[in-house]
Amino acid sequence: VVVRATKYDEELVATAHKIATAGRGILAMDESNATCGKRLQSIGLENTEDSRRTYRELLVTTPGLGKYISGAIMFEETLFQKTSTGKRMTECLTEQGIVPGIKVDKGLVPLANSNGESWCMGLDGLDTRCGDYYKAGARFAKWRSVVSIPAGPSLIALRDCAYGLARYAAIAQNAGLVPIVEPEVLLDGEQDIDQCLEVQEAIWAETFKYMADNKVMFEGILLKPAMVTPGADAKVKSSPETVAAYTLKMLRRRVPPAVPGIMFLSGGQSELEATLNLNAMNQSPNPWHVSFSYARALQNSVLKTWQGKPENYKAAQESLLQRAKANSDAQLGKYDA
Ligand code: 13P
Repeated sequence: VVVRATKYDEELVATAHKIATAGRGILAMDESNATCGKRLQSIGLENTEDSRRTYRELLVTTPGLGKYISGAIMFEETLFQKTSTGKRMTECLTEQGIVPGIKVDKGLVPLANSNGESWCMGLDGLDTRCGDYYKAGARFAKWRSVVSIPAGPSLIALRDCAYGLARYAAIAQNAGLVPIVEPEVLLDGEQDIDQCLEVQEAIWAETFKYMADNKVMFEGILLKPAMVTPGADAKVKSSPETVAAYTLKMLRRRVPPAVPGIMFLSGGQSELEATLNLNAMNQSPNPWHVSFSYARALQNSVLKTWQGKPENYKAAQESLLQRAKANSDAQLGKYDA
């Protein structure tokens, strides 16, 4: 009989509930250096450690952010970084009541003998890294694996995605980090919403099977699903009400009520779409806290407003606060466009 380590159980449950609190969600600001560089280049900035720090400092020092944001996911560089005034980035977050989080996967590589699909690296040495991240102040983690509908998805890709997530979740919990479990079903493709539902049901069934096998404690995890929507190139679009109905149907079928929070990714939806869809999902009570963990749908306007210019710094922070508040309202089902 295998007995799981229970040292961190109470803390894991407390952390998960702190993140999944009414009217709050997660700011995903964990872009890899390459992806962050693309965002910075789009406003004419060079991709240096210094410009990444300036941008992340703008985000974490936004006054009042903690009212709407309960957790922030960082890339490793940011977790150990200090602001221009020498303060730890993590400290900027914790003093606003925001829980620091860390992206722990090592990215996607091709999966042999699949339909051009990928698998997610990062299990080697993960326990040691998680221990270091906990010491540095992180209290939750994220691992993003992807599922592509147009590429299949093949059974080996689904299985590998689910198994990797389950192994990661067990390792993170044993180190005191609440795992965010993210099998991102990509928006790309012409599939209709029913095909998306079928694939989402398949990946979540596999993920929960392997999480159970790996003795993951469901009260101490958070999920980061994509919403159930038609593909980006589908002929027929869906209203927020339809997206909400499909997504909630999928979640009710697959996710036990023991799970405290569902924190959606925005996945390429516009800022407004992401807010409207979330609002539609919160029109009646759900078994879990249903909220957001957006990157692009919280940051697009910030970057556009900032343009890398000191004179726009305050306005950019205000635009972050405005998006955060809109999604906070949507978490409460009270967003008014
Ligand atoms: P988007 O909200 O931009 O999809 O990013 C969320 C995220 O962290 C993906 O892993």
